[in-house]
Amino acid sequence: MSTAKLKVILTIKLPDAVETRMRELFNTTLWLFMTPMPRDRMIEAARDCDVLVTSINDPIDAEFFANCGDRLKMIANFGVGYDHIDINAATEQGIMVTNTPGVLTEDTAEMTMGLIMAVSRRFVEGAELVQKGEFSAWSPTFMLGRRIFGKRLGIIGMGRIGQALARRARAFGMSVHYHNRKPVSARVSDELGATYWDDLDQMLSRMDVVSINAPGGAGTHHLLNAERLSKLQPHAILVNTARGQIVDERALAAMLRNKQIAGVGLDVYEREPAINPELIGLPNAILLPHMASSTIEARQDMGDRVILNIKTHQDGHRPPDRVIP
Ligand code: DGY
Repeated sequence: MSTAKLKVILTIKLPDAVETRMRELFNTTLWLFMTPMPRDRMIEAARDCDVLVTSINDPIDAEFFANCGDRLKMIANFGVGYDHIDINAATEQGIMVTNTPGVLTEDTAEMTMGLIMAVSRRFVEGAELVQKGEFSAWSPTFMLGRRIFGKRLGIIGMGRIGQALARRARAFGMSVHYHNRKPVSARVSDELGATYWDDLDQMLSRMDVVSINAPGGAGTHHLLNAERLSKLQPHAILVNTARGQIVDERALAAMLRNKQIAGVGLDVYEREPAINPELIGLPNAILLPHMASSTIEARQDMGDRVILNIKTHQDGHRPPDRVIP
């Protein structure tokens, strides 16, 4: 039985192999530029297709739904986080949303572990010093960081990525603690040897390293506000590879400047791609350009998930990664 090809429009450039496969399977219009499709073009595109392939760069909000017309039936997001999409509004309008869970877990956990090490052991400061030709001699008091072996890691959000980070941290000799809406199953808890903290403030006040691995959205907006951040110990480091809006960036910058916290590793920001200028230039802040899942493998796998979701819908079935409000 042959099914009519759905009209699919991409709002962002995807890996070549993914685009080639999409063109074989669907009536696909690519976006050929390296910068994402501008918002007005994106809304116009939504009116003219069955499936819109979006990314974190596309706020899918009330204005979008008021103007997207009635042809669009599916938003296939290239990414696991969907805090930029109003899922309730989509459902009300009869538009299904899918994401790409599971395929970027290890990549994001790798980057988070890397940031923990890079901040604790001052990788970036050391590398920059060498590049500037300023390495004059080894010294017992030079470029001292902090050991991570034997330290306490507090993970905020113990989903797939939090758990993958916990496994890595254990291998590095850290003790793992976590705060989550509810404790993980006994099986996972035993495997990870992780301690659950119901009270986030208390956990923050006892950790050497804190990593944010929770989803974004209204439920976690400024979860780490000025008051919560002040619970961190002065020698603690904070790493965020989840969503920038979870942390009050201004309060964080002030704490770094005042040495109320030892360092941060950030991959995400409150108003991406803009970065609070108060964070720039601080020696104890490693700032990355939202690249935690940026591996060749993850991008291909994410593309494969997007294709699978659209193809399943095209064949008249329920896509595996449908996001439910
Ligand atoms: C994700 O997959 O959520 C990444 O952060 C990019 O959106």
